[in-house]
Amino acid sequence: MNTYSEDWRLDWDSDLSVLLKNAEEAEQGLSYLSPCGSEAARKELGSYYTPADVSLFFWTEFLRLTHIHDYNDIEIFWHRHHFVEPSAGAGALIFALFKKGVEIGLSPQQIACIHLTVIDINAVALDFIREQISWLENRWSIVFSNINYECNDFRRHKLTESSRALLFFGNPPFVSNPRGSKWRNLFADFLERSISQGKKDGHCHFILPVSIAFSRDYAKLRQQMRGLGKSIAISSFDNIPDTLFPSGKPEHTNTNKANSQRCCILTIFPTNKAKILSTRMHRWGKNQRQQLLSSPPHYYDISDYDFDDQFPRPENEAILRYLDNTNAAKRFASLICKGGKHKLYVASVARNFIGFREEASSGVHCLAFDNKESMILGLLILSSDVFLNYWRSVGDGFHVTSANIMDFPLHTNFMNLITNEIPMGNRMWKNRKQFVKTKKHPKGLTTSYDFSTAALRLCP
Ligand SMILES: C[S@@+](CC[C@H](N)C(=O)[O-])C[C@H]1O[C@@H](n2cnc3c(N)ncnc32)[C@H](O)[C@@H]1O
Repeated sequence: MNTYSEDWRLDWDSDLSVLLKNAEEAEQGLSYLSPCGSEAARKELGSYYTPADVSLFFWTEFLRLTHIHDYNDIEIFWHRHHFVEPSAGAGALIFALFKKGVEIGLSPQQIACIHLTVIDINAVALDFIREQISWLENRWSIVFSNINYECNDFRRHKLTESSRALLFFGNPPFVSNPRGSKWRNLFADFLERSISQGKKDGHCHFILPVSIAFSRDYAKLRQQMRGLGKSIAISSFDNIPDTLFPSGKPEHTNTNKANSQRCCILTIFPTNKAKILSTRMHRWGKNQRQQLLSSPPHYYDISDYDFDDQFPRPENEAILRYLDNTNAAKRFASLICKGGKHKLYVASVARNFIGFREEASSGVHCLAFDNKESMILGLLILSSDVFLNYWRSVGDGFHVTSANIMDFPLHTNFMNLITNEIPMGNRMWKNRKQFVKTKKHPKGLTTSYDFSTAALRLCP
């Protein structure tokens, strides 16, 4: 039982909100505290801290996925686990965890019983967290006696043995590894190490680049995750119009959105029956941010997905069904005829529609067909909502790769519908000037055709 006033929860909540805000704001100060304090050095440490709203969403989702709903659930969970934050920064995810713990029913004394290892390579960041915790201790007359602060490289850090199940959580650095390393990016070392130390009853809960879900570079890591026999949940977030990390890189020099990785939240958790769950790639405007981060995302069950080795981000249920049983289906590549006279030029990047161009240029796929009818079929397929939804589900959210196009499965029913639309396809192509869209960029103007309003729409 606590000995605080009736309003202690409100006070605790407001104190934790302050600590969370401090953690968010400390990014500027702490991230540059490397020996040379430069943007390059900051990049080297991948020091981009998690904003408060994302930190809270991160734990809300974890608790929901692991069915921790009330006081009894959280109390047991708190005592069974040893929490490990391997790249703690200013501690945003730690303070968000405390805030959620109290929200569900733990008292500050119970929160303070947490077994927690806080690791970061940046000693100043660790000191910052220590100070924040010590402020909480004084203010609430509590003692966090089971926190270890470790200034170390997580890849080499040896955790002290614990009889408790390990729960690794964090937003590890996204930093390119030197050539010849096992993984292209440091976040993958963090994930692999956490998975392997987690044993049978361990959890992992990380904010990662969305490439973990699709890139060939991490195919083996996905295989390792599947092999754990645990459940996996991934919620994915695009970087336009809004991004999860709006604070960004203050001194960025290119036109990319600051700190603009598309991110996902990956959760690995033991369950009786292992499932793989994945959301669509969320896209939202700044004015929808609050709603996005306060609503539970919808997960699709992708446990049986075998179209490729990805964890897809299904745009909807219909496209997931479309990608089922594709073994017998021909692929888009079967329509192509190298050297064919009839050409379609398809933009190699997309967002809301697949763009077609008038002629070849850089950043355009040239698709050749041996007759006009095949070309029109190609046009109808690639401008259909089925293709757009497929690309959104398995593409990287920006590039329309040649493999995305060539591997698209052509189910018989879909092809029957498309074939019936050939007259419409001919009209679309003939009247293509009506579908022009232009986009300004530093080197000039790009003109594309966007047939999405006229093309076949099959998905609800
Ligand atoms: C993306 S920030 C995240 C900080 C914090 N977890 C958050 O969510 O706000 C990554 C952190 O990893 C730390 N870091 C970078 N390389 C590391 C390593 N090899 N071992 C441990 N920490 C590392 C950086 O100092 C930085 O604080």
